[in-house]
Amino acid sequence: MKPIRLDKYLADMGAGSRSQLRQEIRKGLVQVNGETAKTPDQKINPDQDQVALRGERIAYVSFEYYMLNKPAGVLSASRDRKEKTVLDLIAEHSRKDLFPVGRLDKDTEGLLLITNDGALAHELLHPKKHVNKTYFARLTGPVTPQMVQAFAEGMDIGDETLTRPGELRILKNGPQAETEITISEGRFHQIKRMAKAASTEVLYLKRLCMGPLCLDPALACGAYRPLTQEEKTALQRLVRNETI
Ligand code: URA
Repeated sequence: MKPIRLDKYLADMGAGSRSQLRQEIRKGLVQVNGETAKTPDQKINPDQDQVALRGERIAYVSFEYYMLNKPAGVLSASRDRKEKTVLDLIAEHSRKDLFPVGRLDKDTEGLLLITNDGALAHELLHPKKHVNKTYFARLTGPVTPQMVQAFAEGMDIGDETLTRPGELRILKNGPQAETEITISEGRFHQIKRMAKAASTEVLYLKRLCMGPLCLDPALACGAYRPLTQEEKTALQRLVRNETI
């Protein structure tokens, strides 16, 4: 890993603002490899150097990845002045620069990846990547073969271009049909707008998968956990174009 300034090292780990930390370093409260640090611009090699603030060791973490089962009623944003955000639900983390990869509507539940890996987020969200997203959707009314076909052909939802083809699979048909819907874009309110264009409405929406990452069924609504090594590897393979 590239060397980084001491004040950035500590700020990245959420130990305080850069200006607070500069003062703490100047006050002699920070040790590097057991020696009191003198200047905030001292270069730290995160792989080798040991940094402590007020005697407490602070290890450096470059990237963090969490899977959250987003509950309804919470905003897919990093912070908001009034409303609770998905980041308020990630109680224990090291990095202060976490963000949600993409957005789910406030009333949508399910899989949300929270990370500080901007390159990965860029790949997952890039419109040209066509990463599949699968949702569980409860709809008003029964699903007809015409609706399945409309999803499969791509739909006019009022944008300049038709949507890419999607897949509407019936799990349980009836007055409140239960379905799984897979799309490969991320347009604003896309599932709700596609449902409307197919003369139905979404009563409940939950994201199940995004690319190779699928919601852990053991994660309760509102709960989160770090990604496993296998999940991280699957996402890295996607970034390297090895899978889509
Ligand atoms: N489509 C929607 O309409 N809402 C979401 O939250 C996600 C996809």
